[in-house]
Amino acid sequence: MTFQAIAFDAYGTLFDVYSIGSLAEKLFPSKGEALATLWRNKQIEYTRLRTMCSMYKPFWEVTQDALIFSCNQLGLHLDFESQNALMGQYAKLQAFPENLDVLKLLQKMDLKLAILSNGNPPMLETAVNAAGMQGIFSHLLSVDSVKKYKTAPEAYQLGPDMFSLPAKKILFVSSNAWDVCGATWFGYTTFWVNRAGAPIEELGVKPDAEGKTLQDLLAYVKKSIADSNSSSH
Ligand code: LAC
Repeated sequence: MTFQAIAFDAYGTLFDVYSIGSLAEKLFPSKGEALATLWRNKQIEYTRLRTMCSMYKPFWEVTQDALIFSCNQLGLHLDFESQNALMGQYAKLQAFPENLDVLKLLQKMDLKLAILSNGNPPMLETAVNAAGMQGIFSHLLSVDSVKKYKTAPEAYQLGPDMFSLPAKKILFVSSNAWDVCGATWFGYTTFWVNRAGAPIEELGVKPDAEGKTLQDLLAYVKKSIADSNSSSH
């Protein structure tokens, strides 16, 4: 088989970062979707700026900063209660509906499963528990231990270090096109969960495989195992 472990991105891949849109819409009528989109974009922009300038701070705080900026930008008054409500929901983001069943099936296939995420450890634990995913992952790898966000090579290096495997033997799964490109450059075998049907980034690099949901990932993993079994006989 080409890979022996799977490392999942968390936010956007396992947990739906845009699921806060409905609460945002309740708090700020007609601005919910705009807030959800800007909040996510700013959050990722801040992780990149902080990594480039060696000014790391945990993802939870970066997420809060991005929320405050986004509300200011959109002219929305973010009072203490609204901030608490939105951050509270962010801590327990909805998982995509097919995820839990697919993860359980992958676990049964003797593959080691981990999360490799920008999220700091308490944030990841809370999200995993809220989604009922306890016991699925052997490791919740957080970039917090290297104080650099993806796409820094030090962040991606956490996977090979933890599994004692070369990156090529680990399947890295992300819905974020930039993340899947970064991971491919780093050397992982990669699967892009392209939920939104987005075009590929113009970066001169392509994921090894692509699908729309984690169901497609399951099909890809099964096929890879079958192919490698038939070529070894
Ligand atoms: C993560 C962000 C990038 O989970 O979605 O790492």
